[in-house]
Amino acid sequence: MTTLRIRTSEQDGQRFYRFDDPTCDLSGVIAIDSLALGPATGGCRFWRYDDEDSMLGDARRLARGMSYKNAMAGLPLGGGKAVIRRPHGLFDREAIFRSFGLVLNKLNGDYLSAEDVGTTPSDMEVVRSVTPFVFGLPSRGTAAGGDPSPWTALGVFLSIERVLVRRGIALAGSRVAVQGLGSVGADLCRRLHQSGAKLVVADVDQQAIKRLLTGVPAEVSDPNAIHASRVDIFAPCALGGGLNQETIPEIQAPVVVGAANNQLAGDADNERLRSRGILYAPDYVVNAGGIINVAAEYLGHDQGQVLDGVRRIPDRLAAVLDRAEAAGRSPSHVADAMALELIETSTNAPGNRMSA
Ligand code: NAI
Repeated sequence: MTTLRIRTSEQDGQRFYRFDDPTCDLSGVIAIDSLALGPATGGCRFWRYDDEDSMLGDARRLARGMSYKNAMAGLPLGGGKAVIRRPHGLFDREAIFRSFGLVLNKLNGDYLSAEDVGTTPSDMEVVRSVTPFVFGLPSRGTAAGGDPSPWTALGVFLSIERVLVRRGIALAGSRVAVQGLGSVGADLCRRLHQSGAKLVVADVDQQAIKRLLTGVPAEVSDPNAIHASRVDIFAPCALGGGLNQETIPEIQAPVVVGAANNQLAGDADNERLRSRGILYAPDYVVNAGGIINVAAEYLGHDQGQVLDGVRRIPDRLAAVLDRAEAAGRSPSHVADAMALELIETSTNAPGNRMSA
């Protein structure tokens, strides 16, 4: 007999599934923001949360971001996200992800999962052992699949390149501050170094810094001060909320382009950045490489098609920046408006973000 419990609720047009399974210490939330363009798709975060409210808040914000990201990337996918509380002390990782897979079965394909912070392709293989509604599995041959992080890093790298061109700055010799040296941040650093950029880096995990420095030279900064580095680009690649009322006044870079989801702590931070003349490339426009790879796996595409899709990211960013400049508005407001229009004018969703 299963001890898995799922409670469903709705608020502000979003649907939530809170789940728990005491036998393996599973506790989490799936948030579905939109089914207008297709099944709600977004990664599964495995993180230390203090309580259910903080899980719910994170899942809600991340699911909304996925709706916008998938729409802007031209994918036939809606927006959703799962978060799972990482238990304290010892836990049975396989049992947790197997039980999570059973939750996905109950949603019957309305939500498709993949990796996010704290989860790996092997976790997704465990999930796949009980459900078809998961992607980001190790790839075979030339088929799309596997760790989405290198694709995310490529999209961010190409976006940095494009923004520097617009500003008349050469990538070789430019200075870039990278905050967070995990799967995406470290890969981004390697690409930037190979192109001749000078790096300033920070991570709260000393091992992550050590791993990077074995192959890539970089100046190491304090994680609490990296945002204030004197650089051409600040690239947040850690967790969300890094652009806020404390950090924005201290940012020295004229441009922010990074992979982290939900970089702006609140809507007022858009205006804070704009009034300081800092150009912010909307996170979900530039970090779509990973979901383009996940979507290709779902659609049965190959890696060549993923590469084509990721190479289109800088054009989309340029379109957002052009419109923002012409309208005197912040790039995020323009991107949000473009994404919402795509969602609301979809034939599946005449004015209703939750309609399937
Ligand atoms: P990860 O978990 O591999 O790396 C995150 C790194 O940030 C870790 O090394 C961690 O120690 C570090 N970190 C955490 N707090 C920090 C702080 N305050 N200061 C400095 N470093 C800190 O995660 P991953 O996959 O590299 O993702 C990074 C960001 O990009 C996340 O916000 C994620 O949601 C976003 N993202 C990732 C995608 C992917 O394909 N992996 C796709 C789209 C977005």
